[in-house]
Amino acid sequence: MSDPSPVPLGRSSLAALVELERVSQPYPLSAAQLKAALTDDADVVLGLEEEGGLIGHAILSRQPFDAELQAILVAPHQRRRGLGVALMEAVIAQARVWKSERLLLEVRAANAPAITLYRRMGFAEDGRRRDYYPSLDGAGREDALLMSCRLSGA
Ligand SMILES: CC(C)(COP(=O)(O)OP(=O)(O)OC[C@H]1O[C@@H](n2cnc3c(N)ncnc32)[C@H](O)[C@@H]1OP(=O)(O)O)[C@@H](O)C(=O)NCCC(=O)NCCS
Repeated sequence: MSDPSPVPLGRSSLAALVELERVSQPYPLSAAQLKAALTDDADVVLGLEEEGGLIGHAILSRQPFDAELQAILVAPHQRRRGLGVALMEAVIAQARVWKSERLLLEVRAANAPAITLYRRMGFAEDGRRRDYYPSLDGAGREDALLMSCRLSGA
């Protein structure tokens, strides 16, 4: 079977998004946050569907000059098959359609899989927000890395 391609999702995908976040994340996005992303004209939600089920998604927001990646997620049992790269390529393509100057994101400083993916896609670290996230073990706080990628042709 060939790999799925990212497609824009609409309101009918809300329940599937909520469930994918719930089973995949220690701090899932809420139904209200996902509904807002699906309905806000400044946001695009991209999804990967296989055998009728949602196995990945990315949320991108349009800002006046830049675009910001709000979320990217691949279902745990579907990781390391190139789907994160496929989602990021679609995110970058959408930001180029918007003529965004840069693509921005924030990531937990300890999230090695995501940081490795972002570096591979051309992102560089711009800075750090100290103690920005609650730590995953619940015992303290964790820094956020601020990363960006300049988009050619902007
Ligand atoms: C980050 C995430 C989206 C990557 O998705 P994925 O489908 O596994 O990514 P890919 O298969 O396209 O991997 C692309 C590259 O990223 C890097 N990478 C991905 N997972 C990695 C891991 N666990 N360890 C080290 N590098 C990793 C590798 O360079 C990989 O290339 P390779 O497989 O040829 O070595 C996925 O791990 C995920 O959903 N994590 C939980 C949600 C999350 O943390 N999102 C980011 C929030 S800012």
